Amino acid sequence: MNIIKFPYEMQAYCRELRQKRASIGFVPTMGFLHEGHLSLVRRAKKENDTVIVSIFVNPAQFGPDEDLERYPRNFEKDISLLKSEGVELVFHPKASDMYPEGYATFIDVEQVTNRLCGLSRPSHFKGVATIVAKLFNIVGQCRSYFGQKDYQQTVVVKKMVRDLHLDVEVVVCPTVREADGLAISSRNSYLQPDERTAATVLIKALRAGEAEALRLRPCGKVEAAKVTDAMQSVLENELMAEVEYVEAADPDTLERLKQLNGKAILALAVRIGRTRLIDNLIMEI
Ligand code: PAJ
Repeated sequence: MNIIKFPYEMQAYCRELRQKRASIGFVPTMGFLHEGHLSLVRRAKKENDTVIVSIFVNPAQFGPDEDLERYPRNFEKDISLLKSEGVELVFHPKASDMYPEGYATFIDVEQVTNRLCGLSRPSHFKGVATIVAKLFNIVGQCRSYFGQKDYQQTVVVKKMVRDLHLDVEVVVCPTVREADGLAISSRNSYLQPDERTAATVLIKALRAGEAEALRLRPCGKVEAAKVTDAMQSVLENELMAEVEYVEAADPDTLERLKQLNGKAILALAVRIGRTRLIDNLIMEI
């Protein structure tokens, strides 16, 4: 396995791959890899000649009071997992090489970043769009794999790719869950045992929202407020859960829906203790 640290070296390597006509599957990550990440790697491996994984905890996407310092890291384990998946190339740059002194260029995707997670994390998606654009420029033409778990991120990245004419095909893969339904996340490692039990309330609330929508469908209009109320009441029963948002939104624009008609995304962000968790479910009605 080849581990490359420098952006210019990575760019040259990827250029060579393309000259050899190898198709590239690219999986950007912040490391501390789990089954969710590995599902993207496996899909990329199936659909491309070469798989590249980047491991970079991107400071630009963390707010001043967020968990950049304590974000979990385990590079050795990540590498051994990627070796067992047969990944040939890992990009692992230093923050000082991605954002050298005097760095001043950021990408701001408008509209879709002003909703859902964007409300409580005002600079987060600017950091995400910036690093993803930089990585796409380094890797070059590729298919890039993202998880539905971070649904708003997939909308932002797709919009940026389209608006900036980037030569990247964005592939969105299903959320991988623990046996009890909790979406797997690097941040789950923050949870104490009682918090881990409480965290199942996210998927329970989403499923309750979906069930309510399907129950209301034969009665005609499905009011979004009734669906989000059903989700809220599940969340209220869990004393450890502090709700940030619960929404039924348009899957393309992320605008809040008044009625569910066609495709909708049910999305929520909830704090369990100090840990902020997100989850979502796409449904058709
Ligand atoms: P990270 O949280 O490490 O996630 C990397 C990729 O794995 C993202 O596309 C994310 O949606 C996906 N992923 C995480 N948990 C998943 C799960 N349970 N099932 C399926 N996919 C899952 O997302 C980021 O890093 C960063 O914002 C990044 C895109 C790398 C930019 O810094």
